Amino acid sequence: MKILNIGSLNIDHVYSVENFVRPGETISSKSMKDFNGGKGLNQSIALARAGAEVYHAGKVGNDGNALVECLKENGANTEYILVAENLPTGHAIIQVDTKGQNCIIINAGANGDITKDDIDTILSNFEKGDLLLLQNETSNMEYAIEKAHSLGMQVALNPSPITEQLATSYALKYIDWFILNEIEGYEITGKKEGKDICNALRDTFPNCKVVLTLGKYGCIYYDGKEYFSHGIYDVPVVDTTAAGDTFTGYFLACVSEGLSIDKALEIASKAASISVSRAGASPSIPNRKEVESSDIKQIVK
Ligand code: RIB
Repeated sequence: MKILNIGSLNIDHVYSVENFVRPGETISSKSMKDFNGGKGLNQSIALARAGAEVYHAGKVGNDGNALVECLKENGANTEYILVAENLPTGHAIIQVDTKGQNCIIINAGANGDITKDDIDTILSNFEKGDLLLLQNETSNMEYAIEKAHSLGMQVALNPSPITEQLATSYALKYIDWFILNEIEGYEITGKKEGKDICNALRDTFPNCKVVLTLGKYGCIYYDGKEYFSHGIYDVPVVDTTAAGDTFTGYFLACVSEGLSIDKALEIASKAASISVSRAGASPSIPNRKEVESSDIKQIVK
């Protein structure tokens, strides 16, 4: 099975702050660093570092070569990354506070220039049984969902960042795997509790499998028959950016190599916890050896 990720590529400008800036306020940051990011790129790097064969497709501007090189260095295939001549690469402005929490503004740049024709061309290289992974930071993703489904590909969606348009999209009926958090689950189902979100998603989309992350309460999985849960691990919280991306990439890599759901949740949770203990988006994502040899302890069952 080939895994194709049509996903965003962002330059992350990360500002360390005491507290997030409030309306009308001007604050100084303690430091600023640039990192390679974008939910798409982060998830491809997590897939690759977990050992999966991943093809990253997307668009950058002429200033985005470092992002493409970063994917290559990590073992992702980059032949389907296009260059928009007249647009900048997407970027994100990220504040990280002293508790490791973040808030993010994205500017789509070239990520917003992926056309239906681009998607047709990319998907012509994939077939029934392959898996398409998407987030919500690139253009025409509903079209990509529909088209991939019609080709017999499985479709995994991390509906992040959630918007009203995506929460109510007709295309959700084609999703095989939802990998989402409680906020995204609430926006799609109107339910607040983890199990209620899973049940509501399954009621509306009876063929889907749901992987719901619950922050410090870990994660749960439900496919209509089997239910699993897993806790988080005890690590110092430095920066939560890309924890969800790490989880998504690792979970899909583990499932695609045939591991049980239970094991996939364990490895993905461990990888996400390790990423939280480090700064930055893609640089914080551990490799598979580190995850498997780590002796961090689970703290919530
Ligand atoms: O999930 C973290 C990512 O969200 C950042 O890397 C930023 O680019 C935004 O896409």
